[in-house]
Amino acid sequence: MKGSLGNIRNDTDVLSRARTRQRVRIWSNFRLYLLVAVSIAIITVQTRRRGSTSYANAERKQVLEKCKYLKTPPGPPPGFGSRTHSDRFVAGTKPVLLKNAQIWTAARNGTETIYGNVFLDGGIVKAVGYIPPSMLRDREIRVQNVRGSWVTPGLVDLHSHIGVYSAPSLRGASDGNSRKAPILPWLRSIDGLNTHDASYELAMAGGVTTAQILPGSANNIGGQAFVIKLRPTQERSPTSKVVEPPYSLNGTQFDHSLTPRWRHMKHACGENPSRVYSQTRMDSGWYFRDAYNTARKLKESQDAYCSKAEAGNWDNLGTFPEDLQWEALADVLRGKVKLSVHCYEAVDLDGIVRLSHEFEFPVASFHHAGETYLVPDLLKKAWGGAPAIALFASNFRKKREAYRGSEFAPRVLADHGIPVVMKSDHPVVNSRYLMNEAALAHYYGLNPALALASVTSTPAKAAGLGHRLGSIQVGYDADIVVWDSHPLSLGATPTQVYIDGIPQFSDPYTLTKPYPFHVLPETPDFDKEAKEAVEFEGLPPLEPRRRRGNVLFTNVKSIHHKERVGESGESTIKLLFDTDADESRSAMKSVLVRDGNVVCIEDETTNCITVEKENVEIIDLKGGALAPALTSFGSPLGLVEIRLEASTNDGVVPDPLAVNFPSSVPYTVPRAVDGLQFGGRNTLLAYRSGVGSAVTAPVGGGVILGVSTAFSAGALNGQENGAILRKDVALHVAISRTASPSVGTQIALLRRLLFEKRQNLNMSRDSDLALHAFESIRSGTMTLVVHVENADIMATILQLKADYEVEASRKLVLTFAGAAEAHLLARQIAEAGVGVIVSPSRPFPGLWDQRRILPGPPLSRDSAVTKLLAHNVNVAIGVVDEYAARNTRLDIAWASLESNGTMDISTAIALASTNLEKALGLESHLSDDLVAFRGGGVVDLASKVIGIASARRGCVDIF
Ligand SMILES: *[C@@H]1O[C@H](CO)[C@@H](O)[C@H](O)[C@H]1NC(C)=O
Ligand SMILES: *[C@@H]1O[C@H](CO)[C@@H](O)[C@H](O)[C@H]1NC(C)=O
Ligand SMILES: *[C@@H]1O[C@H](CO)[C@@H](O)[C@H](O)[C@H]1NC(C)=O
Ligand SMILES: *[C@@H]1O[C@H](CO)[C@@H](O)[C@H](O)[C@H]1NC(C)=O
Repeated sequence: MKGSLGNIRNDTDVLSRARTRQRVRIWSNFRLYLLVAVSIAIITVQTRRRGSTSYANAERKQVLEKCKYLKTPPGPPPGFGSRTHSDRFVAGTKPVLLKNAQIWTAARNGTETIYGNVFLDGGIVKAVGYIPPSMLRDREIRVQNVRGSWVTPGLVDLHSHIGVYSAPSLRGASDGNSRKAPILPWLRSIDGLNTHDASYELAMAGGVTTAQILPGSANNIGGQAFVIKLRPTQERSPTSKVVEPPYSLNGTQFDHSLTPRWRHMKHACGENPSRVYSQTRMDSGWYFRDAYNTARKLKESQDAYCSKAEAGNWDNLGTFPEDLQWEALADVLRGKVKLSVHCYEAVDLDGIVRLSHEFEFPVASFHHAGETYLVPDLLKKAWGGAPAIALFASNFRKKREAYRGSEFAPRVLADHGIPVVMKSDHPVVNSRYLMNEAALAHYYGLNPALALASVTSTPAKAAGLGHRLGSIQVGYDADIVVWDSHPLSLGATPTQVYIDGIPQFSDPYTLTKPYPFHVLPETPDFDKEAKEAVEFEGLPPLEPRRRRGNVLFTNVKSIHHKERVGESGESTIKLLFDTDADESRSAMKSVLVRDGNVVCIEDETTNCITVEKENVEIIDLKGGALAPALTSFGSPLGLVEIRLEASTNDGVVPDPLAVNFPSSVPYTVPRAVDGLQFGGRNTLLAYRSGVGSAVTAPVGGGVILGVSTAFSAGALNGQENGAILRKDVALHVAISRTASPSVGTQIALLRRLLFEKRQNLNMSRDSDLALHAFESIRSGTMTLVVHVENADIMATILQLKADYEVEASRKLVLTFAGAAEAHLLARQIAEAGVGVIVSPSRPFPGLWDQRRILPGPPLSRDSAVTKLLAHNVNVAIGVVDEYAARNTRLDIAWASLESNGTMDISTAIALASTNLEKALGLESHLSDDLVAFRGGGVVDLASKVIGIASARRGCVDIF
């Protein structure tokens, strides 16, 4: 053996022979030491000589260490479990004692709840439940008595773009996607992490303490992700936010004797990379294989190098094969990267599972993963086992690959033993409402332990950080959320958030919630729906069963209805009865409905129900409620079926101010009613959630959108009786800084259309526009709805309104929609008699125009809705995305909870019914449809919508 290691072995032999001799003939210690010293001297001389041509001893040690490092699985370093303080501890942070907490620890598979105290010190949890007094002695401690509040681990958002897509969104900070190539494993999200982003604080206000910041999905391999804590750091740098930054962050030279830390990477299949690079799924498949093949070659050359080094073949070994571009993907092949794969459909999931076997690497999580619940067996076949599945609760159908998404996916996957994660994809869903995603998953049937785990311990494990995040256990990071109600109850809001033991809110506003919100909400039975979702591969029939004749609702606890009041004939929502509120605590009532009309309400004293058994369908509401159907506003519901599939949609209104506006097309103001489509999935799901009707405006990017229409969400075609509730509702225009040309030009067009004498208009271009649509605005017979977010633009429009009213001696009927900053002008808006449709109802500063939102508790006392209501503005709420129409009931419930008990259920219902009708200038109400809720009321999660009675359409629709 000619290699250096051979020499070392020979020298070792010298030593062992010496030891043998020692046994036979006892040498003096002196002689032994002399021999050893001589041997070492020989080794040193020999190595020096060879080292000049190949590897010095120290280098060999380094190489062997590096080779060992390559094979060492990542994880916590030895002794991590008994650490006394966190590597993230900030000196000077006072210990915290939380007293009298209801602690959901995430331990025992999420089933453990402890009533007691939590002690945080050194940036970690020091004790849970009982705190030994010795721990607290002689310490200056911040004590918070949480008086029985629920306490959970800080939430972990496994899929976020906070910091790489800024809020407000600005060109200068849109760093989440490279568009250079489909395969970019060498990019890193940390390089684009903007530290100035409104979302950090907002997400913490929702209890999110940690987020995996993924690159976007424009590429098949978009780059490496980093897990950060959201709190501000003293250093104010992106790097200081990263949890357990992988050592490779600073290059390939580092101490390889350390235990490796997990790395993270994003992959994406399907439509997004296809759209950006005009490729097909077949191209994607090849790009992945080609990339992994390159990485495999690198890994094999590194492994071959290491085998030689480890065997002592140092001669002609050359240098370690490094490749900065491919080393991260090679680490995927070594099982050292937590891979997050954005993948929706069976075809894509199958492709990745095959890829994982061809190249032998594990997938940590599939994201979005709309069809995973249809292919559990396929998921289990992934190399290394089934990945965690990171889902939205209700954001589906915006593209073809998301069309079969189901709200029942979490529970179906859990039934197959597959880990479920709820994620935000912030800003797609506002990370602030991550817990709401878990609450919705729970509502639709995911068990509560797994629902809470889905935003804490499960994502922590999926990110390789389960040893320190996502659980309240001794030695874990001191990331803790104190909640104002049960975390899975609707509208649960943190009252304080600790990150690394540091309280994040100095003076949080806290809501007082009624008792039922402090316990785990009961949830309805959705077994049938969940089964059908699978059976029909995500497209279960949604059409209701239509029942004419008699329907008897029994065990009705409360009824709200629309009632006309005063001479104006304005509608309001009135409580007819509530057996709870009733002092006599009267028994539940029965309500007979005939052809959609309530004909009799019966209790012990009345007896008006005389129909024969065989002529009536009896529906037990089990203590439920009847309440006016809600109206959805703000999304293109009924015009758009699959947002990103043009052929499924009405299309886009051309902008008359656009440079390329076709002069061959005379400009006419479009009417939404002409493009309506009925029976869409978002529409029917909204209907099944208590939304009886929708008001939809044409979709456009310019100033003038067109005339909105009101239709019944349950109608299956436009000719059906009662399908169209109002052909024309209001004229919609949009003024914003995101549209071009300038705001001044947009306002100038509006001014011209309001003020210009008819004869001065250029008839060949402006005829319809001026003569018809604006004529009704000018005469005050139609409402002008201005979609506007920014308070300064609103102020300009209020001035325009005042000018018009002086000049024309007539009122301009005006409503603001969107209106994120309306709270800044609450008094002026009220004085001008302008209605406001806040949409979305819980605002997010996605645009510069929206940056001054009123966030609500814990960040501000008021919410936008409560502030406007307090000024007597006619306030309604709306949504932006059509998928969200179904959540209207939950939105009004949330608005009422944020009022801190000052808004009753009637007022809450009015936000999405009578107030909305008034804001749109509908002089008589849209419909008298009544929604039947089983098992609970309008604004709680125990109830389920099981039917809608429609007098206008002469039937009860049963779901
Ligand atoms: C948690 O669940 C897993 C899988 O069902 C089971 O193997 C394990 O024993 C459970 N652990 C505890 C502490 O209940
Ligand atoms: C990377 O280098 C910075 C100094 O620039 C250091 O603070 C940080 O700890 C290093 N990170 C790792 C993971 O070694
Ligand atoms: C009116 O508009 C048409 C079409 O844009 C244009 O050709 C014509 O010159 C305009 N007439 C006047 C008087 O501005
Ligand atoms: C809600 O009401 C309670 C009790 O009246 C009060 O202590 C608390 O400050 C209020 N919170 C907000 C956000 O208004």
